[in-house]
Amino acid sequence: MCGIVGYVGNNQAKGILVGGLRQLEYRGYDSAGIAVPDGAGGLEVVCRVGKVQALAEAVEGMELPASCGIGHTRWATHGKPSETNAHPHKDCSGKVAVVHNGIIENYAALRDELRAQGHEFVSETDTETVAHLLERYYEGDLAAAMRKTVAQLQGAYGIAAIHADHPQQIVVSRKDSPIVVGTDGSSSLVASDMVAVMDYTRDVVFLEDGQLAVLTPGSVEVQDAAGRAVEPQLTHIDWDTEAAERAGYPDFMLKEIHEQPRVVRDTVSGHLKDNKIVLEDLNLSQEDIEAIDQVYIIGCGTSYHAGLVARELIEAWARIPTRVEVASEFRYRNPIVTPSTLVIALSQSGETADTLAAVRLARSKGAKVFAVTNVMGSRITRESDGTLYVKANMEISVAATKSFLAQIACVTLIALFLAQRKGRLNSRQVVSLFHELRATPAQIEYILSDTSAIEEAAELLKDCHSAMYVGRGINATTCYEGALKLKEISYLHAEAYAAGELKHGPIALLDPSVPVVAVVTESPTRMQTLSNVQEILARGAKVIAIATEGDEDVREIADCVIYIPPVRDCFSAITASVPLQLLARSVALKRGCDVDHPRNLAKSVTVE
Ligand code: M6R
Repeated sequence: MCGIVGYVGNNQAKGILVGGLRQLEYRGYDSAGIAVPDGAGGLEVVCRVGKVQALAEAVEGMELPASCGIGHTRWATHGKPSETNAHPHKDCSGKVAVVHNGIIENYAALRDELRAQGHEFVSETDTETVAHLLERYYEGDLAAAMRKTVAQLQGAYGIAAIHADHPQQIVVSRKDSPIVVGTDGSSSLVASDMVAVMDYTRDVVFLEDGQLAVLTPGSVEVQDAAGRAVEPQLTHIDWDTEAAERAGYPDFMLKEIHEQPRVVRDTVSGHLKDNKIVLEDLNLSQEDIEAIDQVYIIGCGTSYHAGLVARELIEAWARIPTRVEVASEFRYRNPIVTPSTLVIALSQSGETADTLAAVRLARSKGAKVFAVTNVMGSRITRESDGTLYVKANMEISVAATKSFLAQIACVTLIALFLAQRKGRLNSRQVVSLFHELRATPAQIEYILSDTSAIEEAAELLKDCHSAMYVGRGINATTCYEGALKLKEISYLHAEAYAAGELKHGPIALLDPSVPVVAVVTESPTRMQTLSNVQEILARGAKVIAIATEGDEDVREIADCVIYIPPVRDCFSAITASVPLQLLARSVALKRGCDVDHPRNLAKSVTVE
């Protein structure tokens, strides 16, 4: 939530800051702003409500020659989106400017204390407290003031600050909010995400909690909380920068949907050696594996849905009892997790606050926790016992698509790995399933080659007030994810149910105005789902079916059929998800929605 960026070097800062904010816009787009030294001993702050484009237009004609500055794109928490609440925030003297990602939990008490000392607040934000604290503690050394300031803060923060008296310096600090810093030798940068730094350097430092960094042109000095210099741990980023471009696609969502064949291929590749599934990064001995008596999977949103797929596969193949839970609930319960529980934490960003808290809880109970994430160096990788990377490359669209398929591919490998190492599947079975998994990218390509039926289905959905999604088994999950996509980007109400549950209540909602998307692909429960489709049709609802090519029974009864190629049921979540992603996008576009920037959402949810 919220993106922060800072630049200090030899070039004009304003364009670089705005460019960085554009790359971080997925983190929030309620307002955007920058602060730069004004060359006359003060600071110039420019903020606009809405997307970064509004800020870009505002600064375009402005005379802002400074070669240092900080910027922010906001996802509002404290105070509505407005220019007054937009970051950067200044102190009373106007010499300090601050951008912040996170939540200062004790801001109200700090603000009262600072007000009593004569500080005047202009915004409703928690962040403004930081600017006034820096003012209170500043005695000529911004880093020293930052150390004293963060010692007063409770909550999560990634902060970057500048001071008019040091026009070539940025000071940053973090706790529980991501901060990456880097330098190319002449320019130094800070950002909430490496995407905004990658054009300058591929060797970056992910600050640890409690660390500070002092950036000057060509130098990044990392310090611990006591101000002692720390040897920075460099991480090399091998992401491809093309991911940050739309490459001719009208939006990132469509581009990312089309990247899925490559993403699944890359995620799976290299994990079968000598007829064995190898997941070296899991770091599990045979003894560890034999001791596992249950698996717990935690995640949020789309990552939780990938966890539901994982449960189906782990239980089917490895026969290990598996539970899946949303991290925001898990973290506040007393879940039955023991040292013989294997915990798998799924998070595209690796920064989701609820998932990180759940990881800490599971580890405190003695369980081994493995992260499945897309983002190198993200917080979850440092808090877990091992990490498996999905190879989705940077995902820009707020609605997760390619990371979902990559997560499914990854958990499929984990399920095969556990099944083989537990002796529940033999090598022949494992190799055969692996080859079928490896064939799914070609099937996705085939689905992407003709989307005419999806467009037809979107026409049926676009004007409804509510839609329902039904499927069974692994495809109940596909439906949960399909409905989430529709809600997120088209703002249509949608609910998904295991098809057999319909008659226990939700069928009361059906009438001709509520279309139903039914996944009726080839599976051991296809006949049962077909009966549910008949029940739906009997209530006058229109049915859009996702079915296996050649299934004439479905064609005869459904209002619209989207055919997908035949795959074994256990892999159908990979293929059936693709038309549901495209369907949500198409409905959203027909309704005039901005698919890459859905309202009220942000890509990384770093607050509770
Ligand atoms: O980065 P994470 O996978 O931990 O994020 C979890 C959810 O916030 C995320 O999947 C969210 O539901 C997306 N908007 C889905 O499109």
